[in-house]
Amino acid sequence: MLRTHTAGELRFENVGERAFLCGWVASRRDHKGTIFVDLRDRYGLMQCVLRRGEGEDALVMERGSELPLETCIRVSGEVSARPEGLRNRKMPTGDVELLVDELEVLGTAETPPFELEADGELSDELRMRYRYLDLRRKKMTALMVLRHQVTSRIRHWLDEQGFLDVETPILTKSTPEGARDYLVPSRERKGAYYALPQSPQLFKQLLMVAGIDRYYQIARCFRDEDLRADRQPEFTQLDLEMAFVTEEDVLQILEDLTVLLLREFRDHEAATPFLRMSYAEAMATYGTDRPDLRFGLEISDLTESLADSGFRAFSATAQAGGRIRALRVPGGATLSRKQLSGLEDVARENGGKGLVWLKVGDDLALGGPAAKFLGEPENEALKGRLGAQAGDLLLAAADQERVVAQALGAVRLEVGRVLDLIDREAWCPLFVVDWPLFEWNEDEQRFDALHHPFTSPMAEDLDMLETDPAAVRARAYDLVVNGVELGGGSIRIHQEKTQRRVFDALAISEEDADAKFGFLLQALKYGAPPHGGFAVGLDRLVAQLAGVTSLREVIAFPKTTSAACPLTGAPAPVSEDQLGDLGIRPVR
Ligand code: AMO
Repeated sequence: MLRTHTAGELRFENVGERAFLCGWVASRRDHKGTIFVDLRDRYGLMQCVLRRGEGEDALVMERGSELPLETCIRVSGEVSARPEGLRNRKMPTGDVELLVDELEVLGTAETPPFELEADGELSDELRMRYRYLDLRRKKMTALMVLRHQVTSRIRHWLDEQGFLDVETPILTKSTPEGARDYLVPSRERKGAYYALPQSPQLFKQLLMVAGIDRYYQIARCFRDEDLRADRQPEFTQLDLEMAFVTEEDVLQILEDLTVLLLREFRDHEAATPFLRMSYAEAMATYGTDRPDLRFGLEISDLTESLADSGFRAFSATAQAGGRIRALRVPGGATLSRKQLSGLEDVARENGGKGLVWLKVGDDLALGGPAAKFLGEPENEALKGRLGAQAGDLLLAAADQERVVAQALGAVRLEVGRVLDLIDREAWCPLFVVDWPLFEWNEDEQRFDALHHPFTSPMAEDLDMLETDPAAVRARAYDLVVNGVELGGGSIRIHQEKTQRRVFDALAISEEDADAKFGFLLQALKYGAPPHGGFAVGLDRLVAQLAGVTSLREVIAFPKTTSAACPLTGAPAPVSEDQLGDLGIRPVR
């Protein structure tokens, strides 16, 4: 080994020992003929002292005075106690320093494109291009360590529970998780393509048929979809499947695992059992299928009370079958005009036509641009149903149910943010259950699967598959923590007949079903056990445990929002020869 210790390791007890350390020059200060170099490695920071002297020492000094930041060096010397007044309590190695008598440059560094030790904001693009430097930073190294610890804990715990880690193919066939596929052309069969898996969904079901009754995998997934802070084109799932189970067994595993991770990584004891909320309640009360329960601000439905309102925006919507919903913001009357118009923008950006706002005065009279359109009955309905009090702000919107839910859901989150209502210390996990199996796709005039097409309908709703698909409920569940969809899953269909009926309801023809999923339908004919599972977004999970919002922070080599990698330059053009081998001619 080139080193005897790491840069984070030396303490008072080591004083007098000779140590060899390797690492990077994090900082260098010249102070009256003495050079102080902070040596950084994965484990910490160690102060190295280079004194002016004779012979070998002079050489050390000469090298030390020329050391560019981020140069990789090896030093050796005696560990010495720092003088009393110069100890640094904030640094684990702050009681000692290394009196360097040998210094070797292992790799010189050019001037880095950004200062690694600075706290300021850095451009994401730059950080990604020089990711190897970005990851040297203490904060980033800590995130990589956390990610490793979380996955390693998960693996260990699942091993104890009898789960088998099985790898599934990356070059495979399309799995419908709702995004576009990344395709890989085949050289052997020109014109044919592999799809990168959006998830290991079908393979894990096949593993259940194969008798691997408890499977897991830390699996890479690929989805060509619009990217946001919480989405990456390639991401990682903790993927899991179990045979001979019901919802309760799967949810218990999810709950136990979440409790364990919050305990060990956040020192938080989560209350159990986790709250369960139906999809319908989540949508109606929080305007989203992933409610953030760290604050209140529940949405109320006032359609019945306001259907005959003189305010056309309300009554016309109600008559057209839409909903009128509102939320009360306690003390919200203090919001400025600008903040209110910001809320209106949020409503519009989320599909709403607008937002009615009313401030509740000291005499409980309602004020605001829409107040003059509201008669006594409306006033009473709004105040009475919402329990309005002086100083409150009432926010209302009317639209088709999905639209009003989404618009007010977004407004609710924005109000929580603007008024700082979110308890940052809180952890609010819940299971969203009782999902509809299908969702109507207006553009294509057919049903889509809300989870995926392999989700089992509830037994008591099976009869409605052909007659009233919209009313069929799914045996599906999502794990939501603090407004983030961490994971989801379901009990699957294990009978070929039922699977075909669901494909039929999704307007997938028999030929199409056979062409795309024939292998699954076939497998279901060979004694498939009842089974179910889930997948947790591992990047999202680690980001939450780390308290960061962007998934990029917890991925070693992430991609930009346009799915590019600034480090390698991927995606990149390839030669026409290479394309020719694949039977592809570029379109000019
Ligand atoms: P689903 O599509 O809900 O289910 O994905 C499960 C979880 O994966 C995470 N996730 C993502 N994370 C980062 N970037 C993305 N682009 C991205 N897309 C999804 C989310 C999500 O909750 N096969 C099913 C699971 C099952 O039924 O067992 C599936 O993939 O945290």
